[in-house]
Amino acid sequence: MRAIAIERFGGPEELHLTELPQPKAGAGEVLIRVAYAGVNPADWKIREGWLQQFLQYRFPFVPGFDAAGMVAAIGEGVEGLRPGDRVVTASNQGKGEWGTYAEYVVSDVDRVVRLPVTVSLQAAASLPTAGITSWEALFDVGQLRAGQRVLVNGGAGGMGSWCIQLAKMAQAQVAASCGPANLEYVQGLGADLAIDYRSQDVVAVVQTWAPEGVDLIVDTVGQGTLLQGVELVKPGGTIAPIGTLIATEPQPDAARAAVRGVRIVPTMSNFERQGRQLRALVDALARGQIREPAIEVLPLARAAEAQRRVQAGHVRGKLLLDVAASAMR
Ligand SMILES: NC(=O)c1ccc[n+]([C@@H]2O[C@H](COP(=O)([O-])OP(=O)(O)OC[C@H]3O[C@@H](n4cnc5c(N)ncnc54)[C@H](OP(=O)(O)O)[C@@H]3O)[C@@H](O)[C@H]2O)c1
Repeated sequence: MRAIAIERFGGPEELHLTELPQPKAGAGEVLIRVAYAGVNPADWKIREGWLQQFLQYRFPFVPGFDAAGMVAAIGEGVEGLRPGDRVVTASNQGKGEWGTYAEYVVSDVDRVVRLPVTVSLQAAASLPTAGITSWEALFDVGQLRAGQRVLVNGGAGGMGSWCIQLAKMAQAQVAASCGPANLEYVQGLGADLAIDYRSQDVVAVVQTWAPEGVDLIVDTVGQGTLLQGVELVKPGGTIAPIGTLIATEPQPDAARAAVRGVRIVPTMSNFERQGRQLRALVDALARGQIREPAIEVLPLARAAEAQRRVQAGHVRGKLLLDVAASAMR
């Protein structure tokens, strides 16, 4: 099969188009023919070797957590799916196995969700990692409820695009930060307040918007961009800093948070909950409660360019790789 792989950890130049043997679906697994693969910041971090201590990689290694496509084969014991079904998956790359930058990928059945006809393959491919982690931060960690106020730091990216929409779906009030070119985009996603972090003081603006404090901050940017966030949250509220894997980044003041009664809950995508969250996200898309973010598609062969763009930190919405979409339209 055609795939993008690396032979060793390193820069984007390590990503190359190659031929690899097609994987097989084992018991409880599904073989998926990939139409679109989603590109995530974790992909370049993995390429550079940041997750070596957690996962056993085998080279050549195929990156990519997210895919939408068609079931090609099912393994023993798989029920409820059959070849030809359109599906989305959070792949087994989270276990160190080959990912979705390839014509075929294998996933455990509990992280494969069949798509209703109304959900496009592009919308679905933009969903897994960013949507699942947004769901985790807002609902599993943040326990967000109707009428509450949430600040999304970084509203224009993959996570931000889903966080804003999911928080609105939950009937919360949403403020989101972004650069000046993305203010309209973020408002279009439903943000009640869009804050230009380049020309405005995010902390001061949020204090005016929510004088009694916000209930939740989902910080998708980190890197010390919102250290004063502790002062913005109500006592009893939560900050969910999304794990960036940047070891040297400054952390919010835990002692000050404890004095103020604010919880800081470092948040990652949770492997056990991914299937349940992905099903809920697909349902929300199918019901029209959320819609696809801004999407740009590059051919699979341009994976290195896609990762460079994501690594630079200013992609709007999601970048996808077209692996074999034309075969599945
Ligand atoms: N550990 C996990 O399980 C997990 C899961 C998902 C994501 N993550 C991490 O979460 C982070 C976000 O992921 P993502 O997929 O949303 O990334 P992304 O799509 O690449 O985010 C890009 C966005 O960040 C915005 N941005 C950059 N600097 C900003 C700033 N100072 N203030 C506000 N917005 C800013 C940019 O908007 P502008 O162009 O307008 O600046 C851009 O739209 C990454 O570090 C990723 O690795 C971790």
